[in-house]
Amino acid sequence: MSTDGTRPAARELHLGLMFWATGTHAAGWRYPGSRADGAYDIGFIQDVTRLVEDAKFDFLFLGDRLFTDPALAKTNPAQMSRLEPFTAASAIAAATSKIGIVATANPTYYDPYNLARLLASLDHLSHGRASWNLVTGADAMAASNFSRSEHWETEKRYDWADEFVDVVRALWDSWEDDAFVTDPVRGVYVDESKIHPIDHHGPYFDVTGPLNVARPPQGQVVLLHAGTSDRSRELGAREADVIFAAGGAVETAREYYADVKGRAARYGRAPDQIHILPSLSVIVAETRREALAIRDRLDDLLPLAEDRADVRAGSLGQATKRRDDWGITGDPSEVADYMQEWFETGAADGFNIFPPFVPGSVQAFTELVVPELRRRGLYRTEYTGGTFRDHLGLVRPQNRFEPAAAKPPAGPPELAGASSR
Ligand SMILES: Cc1cc2nc3c(=O)[nH]c(=O)nc-3n(C[C@H](O)[C@H](O)[C@H](O)COP(=O)(O)O)c2cc1C
Repeated sequence: MSTDGTRPAARELHLGLMFWATGTHAAGWRYPGSRADGAYDIGFIQDVTRLVEDAKFDFLFLGDRLFTDPALAKTNPAQMSRLEPFTAASAIAAATSKIGIVATANPTYYDPYNLARLLASLDHLSHGRASWNLVTGADAMAASNFSRSEHWETEKRYDWADEFVDVVRALWDSWEDDAFVTDPVRGVYVDESKIHPIDHHGPYFDVTGPLNVARPPQGQVVLLHAGTSDRSRELGAREADVIFAAGGAVETAREYYADVKGRAARYGRAPDQIHILPSLSVIVAETRREALAIRDRLDDLLPLAEDRADVRAGSLGQATKRRDDWGITGDPSEVADYMQEWFETGAADGFNIFPPFVPGSVQAFTELVVPELRRRGLYRTEYTGGTFRDHLGLVRPQNRFEPAAAKPPAGPPELAGASSR
């Protein structure tokens, strides 16, 4: 229900918080009230997560990169270094109870058995709140940290990622939900007939299975994907539950949205089973004037003189990226108008909110924008379930190895007997 007692909108916005401890603006860590040392203070990270959990956000998003460069300190300090995402996610899970937790992992530099195990474990210890952000990585520099002579080209990265996802998904199904009997009286620990090898043999991977972790509580862990290329759109349309899209012009976002939902339909997926969430940087205050003053103050703190000059001149130099110019600065109703337009005109199912400085801009969003979205009947007032899949309105997938999944499709008798795999 919305706060004024009217009926809830049939469709509700989904919100995530892109967590970079020092903010998404290059000067965020210098803004008063920010925690310049927040990236390594798990108590601080847990507090920020609880702030958005209290506001009923769908998820906290932990991005990641696999290289670093001290020069980032002046251009993109939040991305210079951070806690490893699965380690941080485990501690976040222990301090929260409802919010989805997204950990970024690039399959190019993982092994599917290992990653399936990490994600299944996170899903168990968070009681069904784990999610994998699958990125193929834009950083060529990562290769040299992983004993590779080169960063693979797009086709190879996605061929590898496609097969990788198949293996991970099969491993998550390798235990049926009721495989554990744990009956001390009869002395039956597991039902061996419900634990399956996957016997995967493909161009890149040979994996026997089963996984050494029971099936995740969500059945299949929620999959996010971020990317822009044609191959990325295909992978997202086929596999992703949530697509994290770049922000920008609303027309471009509509084209992307229609294209990806159209591709998903070709894979037999219902449009509401795939959520497209563009990034949105928000500076909000009670009045537009105050919001603009915050933005000016932030820009004045940009570490590089040339960036400050760019901003003052209004030119689209590198500073554009460093101040997150793909967002909105305004009062609560301006911000809500912007979000509502995207939501209602086929550009977005919600947003991944980029906080320019933390925790101040997160607090402002939850105190000013969230109530406004609720007044408009666009956003939940309570969680209706306990898992990340529940927040997204996603069904829990059938296990491919369970007998019911092997039921022949309705149709002429000669089509009966389809394999369960
Ligand atoms: C909104 C968005 C967020 C991304 N976040 C990450 C990230 O956290 N880590 C990473 O390595 N790459 C990230 N990427 C980069 C993608 O993984 C991908 O490498 C990049 O978009 C280029 O691939 P593409 O040509 O398929 O789009 C992100 C991309 C987008 C569009």
